[in-house]
Amino acid sequence: MLVGIKNYRTVWMEGSSVFLIEQNLLPFEFRIIQADDTHECCQAIRTMKVRGAGAIGAMAGFAMALAFIKAPQKNRHTFILSAREEIEATRPTARNLFYAVEKVFAAGLRSVDEAVQMAQWVADKDAKDSRMIGVYGNELIKNGFRIETHCNAGWLAFVDYGTALSPVYAAHKEGKNIFVYVDETRPRNQGARLTAWELYNAGIPHVIIPDNAGAHLMSQGKIDLMITGADRIAKNGDVANKIGTLEKAIVAKEYGVPFYVAAPVSTFDFTCEDGKDITIEERSEDEVLYQEGPDADGRMHRIRVCSPGSHAENPAFDVTPAKYITGIITEKGIIKPTKESISKLALSSEYA
Ligand code: MRU
Repeated sequence: MLVGIKNYRTVWMEGSSVFLIEQNLLPFEFRIIQADDTHECCQAIRTMKVRGAGAIGAMAGFAMALAFIKAPQKNRHTFILSAREEIEATRPTARNLFYAVEKVFAAGLRSVDEAVQMAQWVADKDAKDSRMIGVYGNELIKNGFRIETHCNAGWLAFVDYGTALSPVYAAHKEGKNIFVYVDETRPRNQGARLTAWELYNAGIPHVIIPDNAGAHLMSQGKIDLMITGADRIAKNGDVANKIGTLEKAIVAKEYGVPFYVAAPVSTFDFTCEDGKDITIEERSEDEVLYQEGPDADGRMHRIRVCSPGSHAENPAFDVTPAKYITGIITEKGIIKPTKESISKLALSSEYA
C-alpha cells in the first residue's frame, strides 16, 4: 500500500534479513526495522511490532526460513526444531502463523533454498488472497453504505490489502460513497491507531467510536454492514477474532445488521471441530492498565489509566459462534459459515 509516494508491504525478506513496519510506533511514527535471525523475528511477533493474522503468518514463515539459513552444521536438526518451537510459542491463536511454519519447515527439509522460496510464496499468496477478498467483498457494499469494523484487519494486519478493509478499499477505488465506523478496540487500540491511520492515508471518510458505542449506532439504524477479520476459523464456522467481536456479532443479529467475516483460506483450521477447541491468548495486564501516546512535543509516554492497586484480566480474542455470522468472505468467494460449505472449501483447497 502507498505510504507517501512509496509502496510498502508490512513485512518482507531480502537476503537473510527480514524488514517490517514497526506497528507499535504507528500512527505517530513510520519506521522500518530489521530482524536478522529467528529469535529477533520472534521478539517482534511477541511484542506486536508485527501483528495481525496474515502479517504474523508471513513473519513466522520468514523466521522459519532464517532458521534453515542460520543453522550450524553441528546439531543442525536440534537448532531448527528449537527455532520452530520458539516461533510456535510466540502467539497461540492466529492459524496463519502455524500454517506458515508447517509449510516452510516441510520445504526446508528438502533444501535451504526451498525454505526461502516457500516463505516468499506464503507472503505473496497472503497479498494475492487479500486482494481477491476485496474483489468479492466489494459486491456486498452499496453506494452510501456505513460500515463498522473492529480491530485492524487492514493491510497492516496482512502483507498487503488486508481482509476486512480490502472490500472497503475496493469500493472506495470504484468511486462508491462509503463511511467507516472504526471501533477503537481496547486495550491496544488497533482500531483507533492502525485502522484509522490506514483509512486517513487512503482518504476514506471515517470516524473512531468507543468500543461500547456499536450497539447504540446499530439500534439507530446507522450501520448497514459490519465486516471483521478472523484469527482462526473452525470447521463448523465458529470464528476467533479480536476480543469484543462476539459482542458486536450478537448485537448485529439483534438489529438485523449483516455481519461478515473476511479471511483467507489459510485462516481456516481444518483440524479444529468448533470454537471451543481454539486457544485464546491471555496477554499482560499492563496492556489494560497503561496507555501510551505522545505529549505535545512528540515524546512518547506510558501512563496508568486504571485505579492503582487493581489488577486486570486481558483475554486477547473471543470466539463468535457461526450462528451470528452472515457469511465469510474468502479469496475463493463468499461462503456460509456451515460445516458443509467449509468442508467443500477444504476439498478445493491446497490448505486442507
Ligand atoms: O492481536 P492482534 O493485533 O495481532 O490481533 C489480530 C488481529 O489483527 C485481529 O484479531 C483481526 O481482526 C484479525 S485479522 C488480522
